Amino acid sequence: MITFDLKTYQYKKLNDFDLSNIKETFLKDHPMGGWYDLRKDDIKEIQEVASTIRKSCEVFLVIGIGGSYMGAKAVIDAMMPYYGKKPVEVIFAGYQLSTDYLLELKEYLKDKEVMVNVISKSGTTLEPAIAFQEVLSWMEEKYGEGAKDRIFATTDAKTGTLLALAKEKGFKTFVVPDDIGGRFSVLTPVGLLPIAVAGFDIEELFIGASKAKENLEDCYYYSKLRDELYQEGKVVESFDFYEPKLASFAEWLKQLFGESQGKEGKGILPVSTINTRDLHSLGQYYQEGKDILFSTCIFAHSNQSLYLEEYHKTLDEVNELAMESVAQAHYEGHLPTSIIRMDKISLENLGYLIFFFEMSAMLGGYLLNIRYYDQPGVNGYKDILHKKIKEDR
Ligand code: PA5
Repeated sequence: MITFDLKTYQYKKLNDFDLSNIKETFLKDHPMGGWYDLRKDDIKEIQEVASTIRKSCEVFLVIGIGGSYMGAKAVIDAMMPYYGKKPVEVIFAGYQLSTDYLLELKEYLKDKEVMVNVISKSGTTLEPAIAFQEVLSWMEEKYGEGAKDRIFATTDAKTGTLLALAKEKGFKTFVVPDDIGGRFSVLTPVGLLPIAVAGFDIEELFIGASKAKENLEDCYYYSKLRDELYQEGKVVESFDFYEPKLASFAEWLKQLFGESQGKEGKGILPVSTINTRDLHSLGQYYQEGKDILFSTCIFAHSNQSLYLEEYHKTLDEVNELAMESVAQAHYEGHLPTSIIRMDKISLENLGYLIFFFEMSAMLGGYLLNIRYYDQPGVNGYKDILHKKIKEDR
């Protein structure tokens, strides 16, 4: 279960807002994009393929960048126990250009049974393309003819270099739907195949997402609230967590909001903290620094219990008290906080939050009057890099 407290630590309260514009105009007049439909067409096939993969490898290597890996990593990291051997280890690559990472990865995989999922909607992104070229040669050397049955490509249905290569080599393919952008694609084969291979029931994500879709009031309110805060000069939103397993979920949120809303000289800058760790570093700035921040705290209760004799409380209770103390101290220091509580980290709750935040990212873009689905700014560095790569040194 997810609960929202969007008022206790906010200076602006419900009655200040007129939500009719968002509610009545937005859904009626704006194309929602395919992610809003929560399509489950591919689920059965994904589950079957995932189950075969789980029987055939020790490591499932997922190659992709941005929306092509962050959603899956967010869910898998949130759900996995901290320690212990996993039946199938899901490893991500192709999201940076680190020489050490690629070489050490190959060394780590040397004696392991490996299967690969390369994910790129465009099929042309440099980072996954380089990683995949290296991994493909390595797989062909290791498995010979059999390599093609151990590689899955998730890409556009009709065009692109990756699709052409998959056809030429005979890899099984999954489709990134035309009408769903990378950062909105976690509930498509892009996110679902790696999550299912990691051993999780992807149907449960849809149960949570559907509940969020049926209950949009909190989403409307949150979207309006953050827009109001932005108009007052609070240009940085900090997503604050008290559970380190959610660190990758924070990264997914930063991509979702950063790429959707940071354009045309506008937008709230998304940042994140993992507390209580960051209270002992960034906490100083948050409490007494420049007045540009507001906080969206996502607090997850533990479903395990550790009783602390000395304090007559569980560790989870102490963690929650820490979160509330921070919210109160920040409120007194002019930093307002919204609190979103999960009764536990579960696939259903994560599915709920995925839909809730995707919808909020889009509504926020609408309120800013910007195009929320594109990310033209990302091409700035790409164009220069592509030219530089071709130059003789
Ligand atoms: O959200 C987005 O669309 C981007 O972050 C893309 O996912 C990212 O740039 C990777 O693109 P591609 O899947 O085409 O390799």
